[in-house]
Amino acid sequence: MKCLLMNKNTEVLLVEFNTSFGIFDKVYEIRNMDYAPLVLKNYYEKEKDEILLLNRLTEWFKGRGIPSWRDKLDILLHRLNVETSCELLDKSFGLSLSDQYWLKPNDLDISYKEINFFDNDFDYAEFLEASLSLNGGPVEREEALKTPNNTTDGMLRKAWIIEGKSRYLLKGGYRNEILQPFNEVLASMICERLGFYHVEYTLDTYKDLVVSKCPCFITKDTELVTAYQIKNGMKKYESEDDYEDYIKKLEEMGIEDARTQMENMYILDFLIMNEDRHLNNFGIIRDVNNLRWISVAPIFDNGMALKVDYYSEGEAAISGYGRLFYEVKPFDDIIKVVKNIKRIDISKLDGIVEEFEALLTEYQSITKMSDERIQLLCVLLDRQISKLRDLTEE
Ligand SMILES: Nc1ncnc2c1ncn2[C@@H]1O[C@H](COP(=O)(O)OP(=O)(O)OP(=O)(O)O)[C@@H](O)[C@H]1O
Ligand SMILES: [Mg+2]
Repeated sequence: MKCLLMNKNTEVLLVEFNTSFGIFDKVYEIRNMDYAPLVLKNYYEKEKDEILLLNRLTEWFKGRGIPSWRDKLDILLHRLNVETSCELLDKSFGLSLSDQYWLKPNDLDISYKEINFFDNDFDYAEFLEASLSLNGGPVEREEALKTPNNTTDGMLRKAWIIEGKSRYLLKGGYRNEILQPFNEVLASMICERLGFYHVEYTLDTYKDLVVSKCPCFITKDTELVTAYQIKNGMKKYESEDDYEDYIKKLEEMGIEDARTQMENMYILDFLIMNEDRHLNNFGIIRDVNNLRWISVAPIFDNGMALKVDYYSEGEAAISGYGRLFYEVKPFDDIIKVVKNIKRIDISKLDGIVEEFEALLTEYQSITKMSDERIQLLCVLLDRQISKLRDLTEE
């Protein structure tokens, strides 16, 4: 099928897409590489090779699908009646709610305005059930597969829903873990008090499951460009230089407060012991109309915290490891990237441990979380706040 890779209304590449294999076979014409996904543009500038570009394009497009490491992916695909997550990409032009790329069949007279998921409502009830319910039935209607849920990334079971005119992302916990949604809310509480630019997560319930809920932070005019994409076009180091280099790049591209925003993210990670700050869990927001880098993306995806994966009583004493670009390091080391920690008014966090405890207790009848675990989580949080206080007073 002859297709145009589009970025909103801009034609990027005219290509042949082999629908049976889900691969791109041929580049007919390069229309505007500047508007390509940053990772593809960077590759092409470096390699200037159309065969490699096709491989990269295939890789990128497949990467838009639900990843193979999504929790309970086999059950989801079975319920949706498809063999692979790539098959879902065909159902709605590969559109997403995190950027504006789509694949337009060349002979189809259709515009972005008519099909984008920001303006045009989509059915989500069946996907939501298939993704988050433990006993959802099979999805029968083809229409139910035309959703931005076909292009969500990440490990956790999740679904986009619509309320009024707004789009929200609901996320569950990993396997039987129920702490993640609470951690997302805790992160929002901390960011709110400290004035960090963040995505606001609240709690919701779906069929006895506690989920986190956050609004879409992308609009029809913007896209999320992850740090992974940005770093891919840059020299790589094996140290803090990756961090410094990244900040320099953002500043060069006009994001003047890049350092403060990045420091805020690592302060949050320290406070909640977030282990999952990989390069697709932060980035920048770009204007898709003029390609201007607008700002650092609001802090999102903070659920893998407070030792969510391997919690046990004995481990409350361990300091824990976080992520700094390509390195896994103790939080006590990562926090050293913050140049002026004294700018943080730690008294703004007064009472937050009690607030978190009250939240965990409020949902205890659903989560069945033990009193002991709640106490330990609060001890951990309290300890991190005290450590940060000590650093601000040094
Ligand atoms: N509020 C939002 N608005 C727009 N896009 C979002 C939003 N939240 C998440 N996304 C997109 O969806 C992807 C998956 O979301 P998220 O990172 O929260 O999921 P996850 O399953 O916790 O991921 P991980 O595998 O990193 O743990 C993000 O990488 C981002 O591209
Ligand atoms: Mg993520």
